Amino acid sequence: MSKNGPFRANSGRLTGVFKKPTFAANFAAIFPLCAVILNTLSAGVMPAPWKSVGAAGELAIDSSFTIAADSHLQSAAGRITRRIEKQTGITIIGGPKPTLIVEFEVSAPAYPTLGEDESYTLDVTPTGARLKSKTSTGALRGLETFTQLISQGQNGFKISAIHIEDRPRFPWRGLMLDVSRHWMPVEVVERNINAMAAVKLNVFHWHLSDDQGFRVESKKFPKLQQFGSDGHFYTQEQIREVIEFARDRGIRVVPEFDIPGHTTAMLTAYPEFASAPGPYAIERFWGIFQPTMNPAREETYAFLDQLLGEMAGLFPDKYFHIGGDEVDPTQWQKNDAIQAFARKNNLGNDTALQTYFTQRVQKILAAHGKTMIGWDEVLEPGLAPDTVIQSWRGQASLADAARKGYRGILSWGYYLDHLKPASFHYGVDPIIDGAEADRAGAKNVDEHVLGGEACMWDEYATAENVDSRIWPRAAAIAERLWSPRETKDVAVMYARLEDVSRILEAAGSTHRSYEPAMLDRLGRGEGLRILADASEDQEIDGRRNARKYSSLAPLNRFVDAVPPESETVRRLEHAATVAGPADIAELRARFTEWAQNDSRLEPLIEKNSLTVELVPLSRSLSALGSIGLRTLEFLFDGKRPPEGWIQQQVQAVDEIGKPIAEVQLAAVRPVRILLDRLAVNK
Ligand code: ACM
Repeated sequence: MSKNGPFRANSGRLTGVFKKPTFAANFAAIFPLCAVILNTLSAGVMPAPWKSVGAAGELAIDSSFTIAADSHLQSAAGRITRRIEKQTGITIIGGPKPTLIVEFEVSAPAYPTLGEDESYTLDVTPTGARLKSKTSTGALRGLETFTQLISQGQNGFKISAIHIEDRPRFPWRGLMLDVSRHWMPVEVVERNINAMAAVKLNVFHWHLSDDQGFRVESKKFPKLQQFGSDGHFYTQEQIREVIEFARDRGIRVVPEFDIPGHTTAMLTAYPEFASAPGPYAIERFWGIFQPTMNPAREETYAFLDQLLGEMAGLFPDKYFHIGGDEVDPTQWQKNDAIQAFARKNNLGNDTALQTYFTQRVQKILAAHGKTMIGWDEVLEPGLAPDTVIQSWRGQASLADAARKGYRGILSWGYYLDHLKPASFHYGVDPIIDGAEADRAGAKNVDEHVLGGEACMWDEYATAENVDSRIWPRAAAIAERLWSPRETKDVAVMYARLEDVSRILEAAGSTHRSYEPAMLDRLGRGEGLRILADASEDQEIDGRRNARKYSSLAPLNRFVDAVPPESETVRRLEHAATVAGPADIAELRARFTEWAQNDSRLEPLIEKNSLTVELVPLSRSLSALGSIGLRTLEFLFDGKRPPEGWIQQQVQAVDEIGKPIAEVQLAAVRPVRILLDRLAVNK
């Protein structure tokens, strides 16, 4: 009884589907052969492998755990062993016989390259495991799968016997991190690179320069970091350290220096390259701003040749990102010399002027051995054919670029800072159905779409909470970019996401551990945690519209402490849908907790300037708890709701669901599910 084919509809980690851990054991005891299927299903690997087949038996993971691998993989083997210690709490001392043998044919190049073979096969049997790959990079990917297969059995930690064949769907699977709007020290970058490796992402796109900060030491133009960074920049030594750190994990590092717009920080240091007289100051607010490089002066290109040349030497990747997004043409329009230049060169409008600039920059980069990447806006007639387009404005624009023969990567739909649920990102495919249906264009689209990148813009995130805005949701995007297109069951994804979330934390991310520390600063006690577990950070528009934020505003409020997606609420939604006896008991326990929470919490939060804004939120949660309890009574205790009661409660719950203090009570969702059931039952 084995199961061929990719992990799909029924491949969910069982704990997410069957609430009671005893279920699988009981089931297997009654039907021993079916244990094999359960073993296969219990592999909560993310991204889901292309093919996995379960078998009988299990491999014990204990203190004798040992990896046998070529010296080339020594640091990876050590890292993975330490991770297993962290995941399991076992102190590993090793043993005479390897638990896992790793074999690969060729060592990865000195620096990772686009399109490397990342495939591997992994066989786990009761007597040992074997990981085979063409390249050492494939072995790195397989090691991550191996650690995710470990689970707790009756006799300790184990991996259920399994055969896996795996490879990526797309060669470019990235995470972009904005370090300009809020400074992200090396430690933040490295822990996120560790988390990227855990879910097989392979491009770290480093957004290093924007209106709010220029973040790299330039030896040629030191005023950039002196005047453009508030003292927060990476030394060249640190940049090299991060590149080496990423390389060791099979991850490329692509730098972005956003030009000609988004350049206030650079122009603060060198106003002579702006399109209007300075002086300039580092931008403290969020938005699109006027300071823009002067495309009409040769001195601008001489400066860029020197600067980009220096940076091209620092970053070994073949690809180099020049931004190019959101250019505000006001300065160009008001500058007579620029207008005269445009007329002389037949550049009929602002777009043509930007295209001229882009093409000059592309030639500079090519001379320094680099291939240019830019955001959507650089795609204009005459663009060098090897340019890569990063699409943030839609899947269609990516397909359009591909049809024109440009390679592209998708970021529209993968903006983590928008704080949408993982299910939203999971549903966005780099290749849209329409493009696939377009027979003439389809081949081009397939060949030219390199993959995608999750983007984390940091207007509303700091070094303290940024991981929680990235993970675990970015793992859903990682799966979209690695696994078969058909792997798209949302419930199964969420079940595995909960497991992988713990793995990511073990890998170094702080997306779970940051929260208690932030809540603790706001006030002591359980009440705030209960409120936080029931809440979600609002989607970005709500935050943008709530108040005028600047980079100097401390992000230390409740809204900054709660994650974008509540695991507690997701479980309760599931319980409200399934509604077995244990689910009903769980719902009742939670609703009771909510109903009682305000009387304890309010006296604490109303005296604290940071939490007084939460008073109405706390009251709402308690009101919601009471509605939930009544609804359970009507649904399951055989009582009938009074005439009009359901409608009244639906309205009340909708009201409770409205944002307060930039936070939403996600807790309304399970109550709505129950009210809807009651309405149907009536
Ligand atoms: C962008 O979001 N302006 C690339």
